Amino acid sequence: MVIKTVEFVKSSEKWQSCPEPNRPEYAFIGRSNVGKSSLINAMMNRKDLAKTSQTPGKTQLINHFIVNDEWFLTDLPGYGYAKVSKSQRKDFEKLITNYILNRKNLVNLFVLVDSRHSPQKIDLEFMEWCGESGVPFSIVFTKSDKLKPGAITKNVEAYQNELLKSWEELPPCFITSAEKKVGGDQILEMIVQTNMDLVKNKVKFD
Ligand code: GTP
Ligand code: MG
Repeated sequence: MVIKTVEFVKSSEKWQSCPEPNRPEYAFIGRSNVGKSSLINAMMNRKDLAKTSQTPGKTQLINHFIVNDEWFLTDLPGYGYAKVSKSQRKDFEKLITNYILNRKNLVNLFVLVDSRHSPQKIDLEFMEWCGESGVPFSIVFTKSDKLKPGAITKNVEAYQNELLKSWEELPPCFITSAEKKVGGDQILEMIVQTNMDLVKNKVKFD
């Protein structure tokens, strides 16, 4: 996909104040610090479109961007950030789950996981919840530049084997590095294909 335009629309603190759901929407989610905002910037070829930080918990609002005037790209706050109070963490979780359950135009969630780590309970539980809630998702392995190719393959296979213990089918998986600009094109290809299917199936968003 050629990125002709990408514009920031707004930051919202709850799903009710998100922009009109008049376009297909794709959202990036995952643990705090996993690399959501960085991957969005890499995919859009823009350095500072989405704010990034070495400190977890940088993105605290729901951030909407419009790409090519056609679809929403959404940067969400991370879940599981340990350094905030329990009640704050619950508030964040509520913000995220309410957004996911109520956002009518949400077509697919990209769940980001760090390619260096073995499957984490919090991510597996989140995917389980997506399944139960009927929310389509794909898995995006991040920061692949930090591993040797053999180690990435091994980790991804181990992750998929873990998923196959509870899932009959694997979701689409992408191996990415925001640092080396790897894998973003595959994600964009999937979005293009999905948008074309929506048009073909006459799915309306207004
Ligand atoms: P929150 O908004 O806090 O939930 O974090 P986030 O998931 O948006 O992560 P963010 O993009 O801010 O990145 C967190 C840290 O990881 C930053 O220091 C990034 O530079 C680093 N990082 C992100 N992606 C990559 C990558 O592909 N490779 C490497 N080496 N570092 C990365
Ligand atoms: Mg972020």
